[in-house]
Amino acid sequence: MRVIIKDNLEDCSVWTASYIAYRIKQAKPTAKNPFVLGLPTGSTPLGVYKELIYMCKNKKVSFEHVVTFNMDEYVGIEPNNPQSYHYFMYHNFFNHIDINQKNIHILNGMTKDYAKECENYEQSILTYGGIDLFLGGVGSDGHIAFNEPFSSLSSRTRIKTLAPSTIKDNSRFFNNDIKNVPTQALTVGVGTIMDAKEVIIMASGNNKADAIYQAVEGSINQKWTITAMQNHPHGIIVCDKSAASKLSSEAIEYFNSIENPK
Ligand code: GLP
Repeated sequence: MRVIIKDNLEDCSVWTASYIAYRIKQAKPTAKNPFVLGLPTGSTPLGVYKELIYMCKNKKVSFEHVVTFNMDEYVGIEPNNPQSYHYFMYHNFFNHIDINQKNIHILNGMTKDYAKECENYEQSILTYGGIDLFLGGVGSDGHIAFNEPFSSLSSRTRIKTLAPSTIKDNSRFFNNDIKNVPTQALTVGVGTIMDAKEVIIMASGNNKADAIYQAVEGSINQKWTITAMQNHPHGIIVCDKSAASKLSSEAIEYFNSIENPK
């Protein structure tokens, strides 16, 4: 695992966007052999999307041959509802880059057949040969995508009931009223994310400090699903100093020495 600790979220965003652009360019993707990118929603990745849009407009990176799979979507929210993750992705990213519409994949939370929708999603990822790079955020309780505490670490794409902590955290997007927050979502599994060739998880702020501590220094367990990162051969955590504030001095010294060798 690499742990990149930056002063603030803006620096985390610049680092992550540059890394994603570098990986896309390095892969030299084509229509036949596209780069497959897993993407999150949430407030944390907004700066990455802004930076990638800027790079795309300045011809520093192209998404023409990039295929995307989003992590999750609320159940029962129409795609044109501003609270849906469909709306979030088009509004904050897809509408501003040169991506081909047919290359965008987001789970359909309005489907009548959740099991089929989730199975098809997994199949679709496989037809592209798997995900090259999965970008994610993390909840304050350590969840990745909507893999809530006590989700199986080998879970696949499925319907999930949201934990009270997530409903409380996400109520800020629903007029601060927990009654407005959907209680279920479709989400890729921990296993789906961990199958990606590379995984980057971003975290910012003091409320993510416990999750980052567990991810780096806790034992692997299904209460903090982010701890599955410890088993990934190419996992990167990019966090600001506040999110890293509960890491031990040994951990900080070790990871900083790897990123800034003498
Ligand atoms: C939701 C999403 C997660 C995201 C989390 C944190 O629960 N399903 O993918 O990581 O929110 O969001 P934020 O970045 O706004 O803290």
